[in-house]
Amino acid sequence: MIQFINDMNGSTLLMTMKDGLEEKLMQLVVSRTSTAAREEWLKSQQESEAPLFNYRYSHVSQVVAVAKDLAKAAGADMDIITTAAWLHDLAKPGMGDVPGHGETSAKDAREILLKEGIDPEIVERVCDTIRKHVGLTLDSPLEPMEAQILWEADKLVKLGVTAFVHMMVYMQQAKPGFSLSSLADELRDYLSLAGRIAASMNTKRAQELARIRLDAMKSTSDLLDSEIMLGKQER
Ligand SMILES: [Fe+2]
Repeated sequence: MIQFINDMNGSTLLMTMKDGLEEKLMQLVVSRTSTAAREEWLKSQQESEAPLFNYRYSHVSQVVAVAKDLAKAAGADMDIITTAAWLHDLAKPGMGDVPGHGETSAKDAREILLKEGIDPEIVERVCDTIRKHVGLTLDSPLEPMEAQILWEADKLVKLGVTAFVHMMVYMQQAKPGFSLSSLADELRDYLSLAGRIAASMNTKRAQELARIRLDAMKSTSDLLDSEIMLGKQER
């Protein structure tokens, strides 16, 4: 490959890029930086009691915030929703899915709430809400309204910029060595599922938030694709 470059006096020089040299330079940068990158991550985790990022806490606390907003807008039972939102993923403390986590989380929640002296009837309503929050799409709205709202809040957190940040954290943990290009691929591939999640919203406020978050996610994907266009060789 032949490239023209400017020397210090501004005159044009002719430089020949040997075949395969760019690939070699890229490999050199990868090998010179990988160990440092790995050591930096390990060191920061070893020096801190706090996890580098607590994905599940971040997810649950966002679900609580969104669920309160939806409950207020729909006039649903705030106590049932707030309690169910905090406890809905008890059986799923990490990032990975746990089969049957709706049922198991409801069972754990029942034990905790009864020990707290909460009225058993209220406890059952909370457990019912938790049990029904699973699945990424819905064919028809859940009953009662509190169950639909927790489901919506849980899924709204899987949309938008929040979901993009969570996706990045997930890739750090599940796919070490991931690149900006593979993150862009992951985000682009997720958009059709994100559209189906957004289409399952039923309350007015959730539909409004889903539309905003889906648009943000599509824009983020488009921007990322356009920004890394020149860096396709990145590893
Ligand atoms: Fe959740």
